Amino acid sequence: MEQQTRTLSPKQRDEDVSVDSALRPRRLPELIGQDRVKENLSILIEAAKRRGESLDHVLLYGPPGLGKTTMAHVIANEMGVNIRVTAGPVIERAGDLAAILTNLRRGDVLFIDEVHRLGRAVEEILYPAMEDYCLDIVIGRGPGARSIRLKLPRFTVIGATTRLALLTAPLRTRFGAVYRLDFYSQPAIEAIVRRGADLLQVPIEDEGVGEIGERARGTPRVALRLLRRVRDYAQVRAEGTITSRVAREALGLLDIDSLGLDDIDRRVLRAIIEKFGGGPVGLETIAAAVSEEADTIMDVYEPYLLQLGFLERTSRGRVATPNAYHHLGIPLETSSGQRRLL
Ligand SMILES: Nc1ncnc2c1ncn2[C@@H]1O[C@H](COP(=O)(O)OP(=O)(O)OP(=O)(O)O)[C@@H](O)[C@H]1O
Ligand SMILES: [Mg+2]
Repeated sequence: MEQQTRTLSPKQRDEDVSVDSALRPRRLPELIGQDRVKENLSILIEAAKRRGESLDHVLLYGPPGLGKTTMAHVIANEMGVNIRVTAGPVIERAGDLAAILTNLRRGDVLFIDEVHRLGRAVEEILYPAMEDYCLDIVIGRGPGARSIRLKLPRFTVIGATTRLALLTAPLRTRFGAVYRLDFYSQPAIEAIVRRGADLLQVPIEDEGVGEIGERARGTPRVALRLLRRVRDYAQVRAEGTITSRVAREALGLLDIDSLGLDDIDRRVLRAIIEKFGGGPVGLETIAAAVSEEADTIMDVYEPYLLQLGFLERTSRGRVATPNAYHHLGIPLETSSGQRRLL
């Protein structure tokens, strides 16, 4: 059978090799920012531990790269349990999930990434498993078919999603703790850049941290990616230290502007402004205009543009705000659509 999960023992996890996982915080105190979520989590974990119980099911949601996967691993580490990692689209049939569930041990964490993409039949297996820790299996077909109920050990589902709205209501209500991850504050992002530089052993000046932090879109993954690219530049084109000049030159070369917008962000905004009079225009139309998947635009690009106040979602579609015009240096008068906004 195809491998639907990976089991990582606490020890193996510490020996994980890739750079990404080397930079990944392992324990709660190492997590920077998200103070409210962290505090809630520490109470949840501490209480479960004191009662000697498995942790309640946890749902983490928010834009990509903010630390959902990281947090799931941190939770398992803090609980001192194994984590099994899988994802909604990977579990194709109800039987696949049944196989995963029957292999769980008491207290284990089952991390389901993209939990909004579970199929209907799979979800129906998951409901009783999460609620009553049991598995209903139908044996045979037709009139002779009968159902047997298997007891499962108490385990914890940690679900992660970028799209809370796509989660079915019955699934959502089975999570005892639901936390939203938000974009990180500037000081938190800078602390993440500093920590990353430390772990990668790259010398970096405060101004260099600031330059990277400003363009990181409040997102740890972006911050660490930019840090690695700036490090490359520092090593190849400078003396290895990330100064503000080195950071600015490297980031300029990557086409990332002062707010962290990249080529696709700008194409999305330009399409709305230049092709559709500033909007409102539907997501699919924008996606076709910039040759990107609508889902990618919605998950990856829009959240930050909304956060910056460059984009608004209306019932009739997306609208570019005057701030977006200003940032791109496009005069507002050129667009008839925008006059309505003012
Ligand atoms: N609070 C944090 N402190 C320090 N580093 C962090 C923090 N959160 C995330 N990171 C780093 O950011 C990177 C991205 O985090 P992660 O993969 O957990 O995001 P995600 O929310 O699961 O994204 P996706 O939705 O794409 O799956 C990780 O490599 C991790 O090292
Ligand atoms: Mg993830």
